[in-house]
Amino acid sequence: MKKHIAILTTLVLLLGGMPAFAGNGSAAANEDGIDYLALVNKLHPLPEGWEEALETVMITNSVGDEVEVEAQAYAAYLSLKTDLEENDGIYLELDSARRSVAAQQDIMNRFIEKYGADYAAKTVATPGYSEHHTGLALDLYFKIKNGDGTFTDVYYNEDMTRPEYEELWAKVHAKLADYGFILRYLPDKEYITGYGYEPWHIRYIGDADLAREITAQPGKTLEVWLGAATDANAAVDYGTSELYTRDELEEAAVQVKCRFASFAGCELHTLRYAGDECNTEENIAWMNQLDEGKGYVQAAEFISDFHSPVQPGEETAWEPDTEYTDWQWWLARTADGGWQLLTWGYR
Ligand code: DAL
Ligand code: ZN
Repeated sequence: MKKHIAILTTLVLLLGGMPAFAGNGSAAANEDGIDYLALVNKLHPLPEGWEEALETVMITNSVGDEVEVEAQAYAAYLSLKTDLEENDGIYLELDSARRSVAAQQDIMNRFIEKYGADYAAKTVATPGYSEHHTGLALDLYFKIKNGDGTFTDVYYNEDMTRPEYEELWAKVHAKLADYGFILRYLPDKEYITGYGYEPWHIRYIGDADLAREITAQPGKTLEVWLGAATDANAAVDYGTSELYTRDELEEAAVQVKCRFASFAGCELHTLRYAGDECNTEENIAWMNQLDEGKGYVQAAEFISDFHSPVQPGEETAWEPDTEYTDWQWWLARTADGGWQLLTWGYR
C-alpha cells in the first residue's frame, strides 16, 4: 500500500517526521567525564562539550609520530598490547587515535585529491563526524619481528589488508572485548556503519562485559546494539547510468542505507536508482534551495519500498505494520564530487 503524506520540501520538515534516535547511550559529555558509549558516525557528530571533558595522553609511536589517546583507552590498549606480545608474539603500535576536526579535514582533503570524493567518503569520516575526535578510536599497525630480532613496520592500509596478515588480525580481534574494545568497521556492514572494513580501527567502549555483549550479538555493530540502527540490508538495483559511475552510485546508496538503518524497526525491501532523468535543472535548483550556498551541480534520486514496524515508537510518524512503496531519496553533488543526502519522503 502506498502511503500518502503531505509534500515535504525541506530537510528540516522531513527530519521532523523521522523517528528519533532511540539509543541507550546518552552520547554526551559533561563534568562527570565522557560517555564511553557515545555514538559518533555519519549521522551523529561529536557530542557537545566533549573536548572539555576529555583526558588524554600523548605518546610517540615506532615511526616517530605523536599520537594522542583518551587516558583510560590507552591503559586498556597497553594491556591488550602486552597480552598479544607475551602470548601470541604479535607486536602492535598506534598509528592514530584522537584527531582534531582540522586534522580530519587535512586527511579528507588528501584522500579526495588522491582517490576522489566517493572513495574518500567511504574511507574517511566527514570532519566533525569522525569517531577519532573522541580519542576512543585507535588505528593499529603491526611491528613484525624479523629473524635477526629487528622489526619491520607494517603500516600502510594496503599492506595491513594483505591476506598474509588475516591470521594476525583474527588473533588481535579475538582479544579486543576482554580489554573493553570492539572492532568498529566490520566486513559487509557498510550499510550500517557507513565505512568499508577496517581491521585496524578499534573502539574503546569502557567496559569488557559490554564489549563482549556487543561482540556476541548478530552483526556485532555498535549502532544496532545502541538501538540506533536496524540491521536490514537490501540489494540495490543500479539500473544504467551515463551520468554516474558505479562507484558513485554505490556511495550514494550507502548514504541512503545508513540513514534508513536509523529508521527504528523498519525493514528495507528494495532500493533502486531512479535513472538519469532525475538530474533536471528543476531538481538541481530544488537541491540548492534545500541546502543553500553549496553550489550543487547534479542531483540523483533513489526509490525504495520498506515496511514499518508493527509497533512504531511514540515519536515516529509511521503507520504501524505498513508497506511504504516508492519512497524517494534525493542526493546532490558539487562539482568537486561527493554526495549529500538532502531529503527523503513523498513529494
Ligand atoms: N576512517 C574512519 C572512518 C575515520 O576517518 O574516522
Ligand atoms: Zn580509524
